[in-house]
Amino acid sequence: MRLLNPKQIWAIGGGKGGVGKSFITGNLGVMLAQRGYRVVLVDMDLGGANLHTWLGVNNPDRGVSEFVGHFVENVDQLLTPTGINNLSLISGARDGMEIANLKHTQKLRFLRALQRLEADCVLLDLGAGTAYNTIDFFLLADTHLLLAVPEPTSIENAYRFIKNSFYRKLRSDGNEQGLRDAIEQLLLLNNPQGIRTPKDLIEYMHRQGGTLGRFIERQLEEFQPQLILNQVRNAQDMRIGSAMESACFKYFGLRLKFLGHIEHEDAVWHSVLQRRPLVLDQPNSGTTKRLSVICSAILQQRSQHPRATELTSAGGP
Ligand SMILES: Nc1ncnc2c1ncn2[C@@H]1O[C@H](COP(=O)(O)OP(=O)(O)O)[C@@H](O)[C@H]1O
Ligand SMILES: [Mg+2]
Repeated sequence: MRLLNPKQIWAIGGGKGGVGKSFITGNLGVMLAQRGYRVVLVDMDLGGANLHTWLGVNNPDRGVSEFVGHFVENVDQLLTPTGINNLSLISGARDGMEIANLKHTQKLRFLRALQRLEADCVLLDLGAGTAYNTIDFFLLADTHLLLAVPEPTSIENAYRFIKNSFYRKLRSDGNEQGLRDAIEQLLLLNNPQGIRTPKDLIEYMHRQGGTLGRFIERQLEEFQPQLILNQVRNAQDMRIGSAMESACFKYFGLRLKFLGHIEHEDAVWHSVLQRRPLVLDQPNSGTTKRLSVICSAILQQRSQHPRATELTSAGGP
């Protein structure tokens, strides 16, 4: 029996490496599996795949790279058991393959295969950076989880990741030339129209007349990434999540939803040294409890706003 219908795809991104994407993906996966959902974790960090280590699984010799390279025809052949009931893994596998090198057709073929998987929930552990392919997998998901740590570099990358994702979404969903040109302008620093943010773009489009301003407003309403703040050490850090939520709305008009924070805990690196997921090893730790609250909040959100994942062949390279 399927617990979630339609199947849900959650993407975990953040623009920066080392913020805890793989730790969170692995442990959320274990938690969902413990709750009875059939879960597949997919390591999309093709250049630095290490999700298997967080789960204590030896690196499988086949994964996403082998599928997109046509060395494996059926994605089911890539499912690696994790030793945890209901939880399997598709590794990133082969060294030397970067997600930036995926062609559009390879990407679509892989996405379609993911959608056919027999699972309730598919979690995509995205790599660092804002390469189009990373952003496209982020956008394709039903739930867009953004991970940041309370450091200026991570916060900066997180904003960049959200902004670039939104512009990419606009360019894929809206094919009017006027809109594409305006977005190209927007991406140029110091554009003469003074467009710096999606909010400026909406005002600019309203001034031009027509329906594009309203179209962008609707796209902004639709796009609701959810933020998890990891490696929090003190009360000041804790406030950063809500501050980012407010800043995103105030300056960009974007609705980022702050889901909660996870503390910096030695138990986390201990768990990776032991190659055992924290939620199994330390079920009563503060981190496990916080993650459990976050997991329930995401499920709750999804049940209120279900959306079947759509695939289009539009969307550029
Ligand atoms: N909440 C946390 N507390 C302590 N250390 C953490 C925490 N989250 C992540 N780390 C540390 O950060 C490192 C990077 O985490 P990882 O999940 O591999 O990041 P990413 O996938 O974003 O590159 C880990 O090796 C771990 O030691
Ligand atoms: Mg990682």
